Amino acid sequence: MNSAETPPRARHFLQFNDFSRAEYEYLFERTRWIKAQFKSYKRYWPLVDRTLAMIFEKQSTRTRLSFEAGMHQLGGTAIYLNTRDTQLGRGEPVEDAAKVISRMVDLVMIRTFEQEIIERFAAYSRVPVINGLSNDYHPCQILADIYTLIEHRGAMRGKTVAWIGDSNNVCNTWLQAAAIFDFKLNVSTPPGYEVEAERIGPKVARHFEAFADPMEAARGADLVTTDVWTSMGFEAENEERKRDFEDWQVDAAMMRLAKKDALFMHCLPAHRGEEVDSGVIDGAQSVVWEEAENRLHTQKALMEFLMLGRIKPRRPASMRKN
Ligand code: CP
Ligand code: NVA
Repeated sequence: MNSAETPPRARHFLQFNDFSRAEYEYLFERTRWIKAQFKSYKRYWPLVDRTLAMIFEKQSTRTRLSFEAGMHQLGGTAIYLNTRDTQLGRGEPVEDAAKVISRMVDLVMIRTFEQEIIERFAAYSRVPVINGLSNDYHPCQILADIYTLIEHRGAMRGKTVAWIGDSNNVCNTWLQAAAIFDFKLNVSTPPGYEVEAERIGPKVARHFEAFADPMEAARGADLVTTDVWTSMGFEAENEERKRDFEDWQVDAAMMRLAKKDALFMHCLPAHRGEEVDSGVIDGAQSVVWEEAENRLHTQKALMEFLMLGRIKPRRPASMRKN
């Protein structure tokens, strides 16, 4: 890249570690306000004339819908691109795509395979880039999950979250969040699917405990959460995983070991009878629908922040001089 091509520095959200605790607190404050506007049918259009490009290399329902509807509700426009219909699917270098796409839009969201693809795109992008899921991370999901838990149960500090199942992109993001928000993450995976050692640096280690027995991981937890046994991109391992994960199903007996008022979350889509029993996901402790809805509200706050920075709170009319 020559200096004439050096892109302006843009802020990105590529993994949960990219933001500080104070920034998350700000985002949650904005989420509360933006959600309240939405619920009372009040128009809030700070992103008029702004365009979001959404690049999907994997399937999606919630991520596409929440970003597309969210951008529309903020007064902007969203454009859906996928590998099948764009030159990205025919081998156009990520760097070239980043340079071109980021000259035409104001914000980019990417769902892809290797995290490295998103990092490379961001390095050459003139505009902020959001990770809409990679093999390694799903930061927008945990943004919504933590917001949802705080909405129901207050501050994260000192809480225990039990992750049951695969040490996948969602689990990796919970690990980063545990260090940032100062809560404990109990993780139980089948043998052979453990969290990779390099993910447990000194900051995370103080917040992480591995359990061979999923029932023990759930004991005393404020939140029990899980995800599919086979993530997108790993379909070839599906049958083997069904056998290996058989005992890692969140069911009523497991929920009884958690706190009495424990909640259940799942990023969705779910497979009832595999990672979760229908009695749990459709039961009284489950907040999966609120969790999914909060993808919309939290990502609207995220897009507002990346586009406009911090919004100064308006003083009430009574406090203004004239
Ligand atoms: N939870 C989530 O990201 O869902 P989608 O795959 O439908 O986007
Ligand atoms: N771990 C899952 C999450 C889907 C939203 C996957 O990557 O397929």
